[in-house]
Formats: sequence, structure tokens, C-alpha cells
Amino acid sequence: MSRSAHPAGPRHADVLPEGHWSAPPADLNHLDQRIWSRTVGRNGDGAAEVAGMDVRDLAAEFGTPAYVLDEADFRARCRAWRAAFGPDADVFYAGKAFLSRAVVKWLYEEGLNLDVCSGTELAVALDAGMPAARIALHGNNKTTAEIERAVTAGVGRIVLDSFQEIVRVADVARRHGVRQKVQIRVTVGVEAHTHEFIATAHEDQKFGLALADGQAAEAVRRVLMLEDLELIGIHSHIGSQIFDTAGFEVAARRVVSLLAAIRDEHGVELPEIDLGGGLGIAYTPEDDPRDPHEIAKALGEIVARECEAARLTPPRLSVEPGRAIVGPTTFTLYEVGTVKPLEGLRTYVSVDGGMSDNIRTALYDAEYSVALVSRTSDAAPMLSRVVGKHCESGDIVVRDAFLPADLAPGDLIAVPATGAYCRSMASNYNHALRPPVVAVADGQAKVIVRRETEEDLLRLDVG
Ligand code: LLP
Repeated sequence: MSRSAHPAGPRHADVLPEGHWSAPPADLNHLDQRIWSRTVGRNGDGAAEVAGMDVRDLAAEFGTPAYVLDEADFRARCRAWRAAFGPDADVFYAGKAFLSRAVVKWLYEEGLNLDVCSGTELAVALDAGMPAARIALHGNNKTTAEIERAVTAGVGRIVLDSFQEIVRVADVARRHGVRQKVQIRVTVGVEAHTHEFIATAHEDQKFGLALADGQAAEAVRRVLMLEDLELIGIHSHIGSQIFDTAGFEVAARRVVSLLAAIRDEHGVELPEIDLGGGLGIAYTPEDDPRDPHEIAKALGEIVARECEAARLTPPRLSVEPGRAIVGPTTFTLYEVGTVKPLEGLRTYVSVDGGMSDNIRTALYDAEYSVALVSRTSDAAPMLSRVVGKHCESGDIVVRDAFLPADLAPGDLIAVPATGAYCRSMASNYNHALRPPVVAVADGQAKVIVRRETEEDLLRLDVG
């Protein structure tokens, strides 16, 4: 069967939406180090390898689809964040991006703390041995059971998100005879988007207590009156996949102003501030993320400057990166099932997964890259859309990409930068079995989250 290769040129510009890649990359076989984890490359056969493991062997042993996580890359990113922020700050990995017991162990060993946002994330963290004092509990609607579990485990902080929760956490703490350390999550009025931020625009959402309308100050008053709560600081999280440090700087300035106002009103200087997560990563070569050193420098400087102006002792800083640590460590390995050229449009490449293992494209219009990884190819670039096997036309993994025109069923392709919010947001749509997470390091592969089985699903279906 001859497949039509859509040559580069005006035709691509016609069918590619504005802002997406308008021309094929010079070398389709190249695995760009800005997007792929650090031990990924091609071996002598032309197949991709990661940590010395050939992807064809990984597919044969673990099946597809599979998330393949580069442990050395994960650990290196943890170390980079720790080094960037130094001993006077804490780095809390945001477990919502991807959490498993192995990940908790790596975080512990690399000196990171952990942010969890549900009782079950907390259970995983505790089960894997993360000391409770290094755990922060988040959430805009924590149940009393979740609060009980956190308080009795002795978590280092609970981040309060509403007036009701202040009372709820204080009640639980009192019942257990604990003075619980808490922070108050405030909304600073910064709306952070991928490439921009709009100041004073984002009070209209479910998280936190607003600075602008005085709710944050009121929450501080209420917490300070409660003996069972120890207010250790103020928390702000402005958004996700952010490339510009300016939004963080505005947030830092506003949080420090609140600390000064608290000092003036109550005579107390809170010892900590947390500026949340949100640092963006590269999903395509067009993304240009900041590195942790840049963000640490920018935040450190602004906090120091604002504190000096307000004559405050600089608080201990913490941050909560999720995506920036785990996102780039992982690629999803798929097998191509069908290749369907649509004359004059593009070629639909169907893989053996889809929106059940990566909902981000359908949900956020997220952009991803993709490469043929079981071999190299000199064929012409073919404008492609990588789609899944689900019964929905929005089941798109990579909206616009160039793959070689000789792509055929049985080829392995991989989508990089899927470590964050893909396995953690995976679903069983169409009774898909959620793929495993295979960690690779030093020529060894280890399943850290196994593939779901039919038995797993049938066990839940109790008739
Ligand atoms: N801290 C707090 C309080 C958060 O709410 C979040 C993310 C983080 C830290 C970590 O943010 P990160 O560094 O990973 O951007 N599902 C979406 C992302 C939702 C993020 C929710 N909160 C996605 O797939 O893009």
C-alpha cells in the first residue's frame, strides 16, 4: 500500500492551526534533548534507548502503551531544585503530578518534601516512609477523615483553604491534643497563563482566600485566635505551565506585603511563605522553560528586597514543583495500529492508548511532540495526527506532528514529557487498562506501577 507523504510546504501551512509548527523539523530522527529525558538517545540500530535500554526490548517485556520513566533524570531534577533553593528553603514535590511509592522513596533520598492533596495521596506517602513532618496537606475541600489522618500522622503543615476548614482543622487538632501547624492559602490576584499573566484578575476561582477583599486578613485573624492551630505562614499558588517569572514575583511581593500587614496588626512575624508550583516545561521545541536556578534567584531576590523594605526578617521560603520535576522524565511508548492518510489533510496514526493515558490534549489543548523510536527513517515527513483507540473523535494524543511517511503498523512511537498529569489523570474510559510505569536506570528496568488487568476492573464491578 502506498501511503501519501505530505511534503513540507504551503499545504502544511494551510492545515496547521496558527501557532503550531508550520514546517517539519530538519531531522525527524533527532531526539531533541530539550524535550526528552537526559539518558534518551539512539543506539547503533537506530532505535531509541533510555538509560541504556532499547525501547523495543522495553515494549517486548512490558507491553504498550507504557510510561517509561528515567530515574536518573528524576533524581537529577530533584537535586537541581534542592541546589537552586539551598538550605534556607524547602522543596515540596507536588504529588498530584505523579505519585507512587518508588517516587516517594526517591524524593526522600534526594532531600525533598512532599505536597499531597488527598487522603489517599497521604496514604501512599506514609506507606512509602516519607516522614509526616515533611508532608504538606492541600485541598479546597478536605474531609474530616482526611484531616484526622493528617493530624494524627503528624503532617508538617495543613494548608487552609476556607473559613469552614479553619474550624474543622482546629476541632480535629483539639480532639487529638495536637497544636497543628498550618498555612493559609491566599489568592494574590495574579492570573498566570502559559505565556502571560494578568495582574488582579484571578480571585474568581475555588482555591484560597483573596487578599483583595480582605478574606485572607480575616482568615489570619481567626487562625491566630485558635490555640489549637499554629500559623506558620502564607501560601500562594498562581497556576501551572508558567514560563515567565514575573507572575511569581508579583505573588511574592503581595505575600510579603501581607506578612508586613500581619506584623503591624498582630505583632507577629510569620516564619514561612510558600510560593507554590507551576514552573513550565518543554513539550515542543517552541517551549522555552526557565530553570530552577532562575526561579530561585528571582524569588530569593524579590523576597529579600520586599522584606528589607518592610523591615521584616526574611521568612523561610518553600516551593511546590510537580510538572517541572517529573514531566520531562517520562515518555509514553505506543505501538502504531493503523495509519490512515486523508488526502489533502493529514494522516491519522492510531496508537494502542489515547485519551485514557493522556487526557491533557483533549482537556487543555496541550501540545506534545512525537517520534518514531523503534527505528530511524529517511522517508519524507508526513503531517500526522496521533490518535488513540477510544470511541471519541476528540481522542487525540498529538494534534499536529510530523512522522516519517513510511510509518507502518507495528512501529513504536513515543510521546515525550508525559511524566506529569498523564498517569495521575489516566482513566478507564472504554474499560481501558491503565498502563504501567516502568522506571529505567543503569540498564535496568523495573515496573513501579503495574499495568491494570481485567481482573482489577472486574474486582471493582461487584455485580
Ligand atoms: N502546588 C499547588 C497548591 C498546586 O495546586 C499545584 C498544581 C502544584 C503545586 C504543582 O503545580 P505544577 O508545578 O505541577 O505545575 N492537571 C493540570 C495541572 C493542574 C495543576 C494543579 N495544581 C495539567 O495537566 O496541566
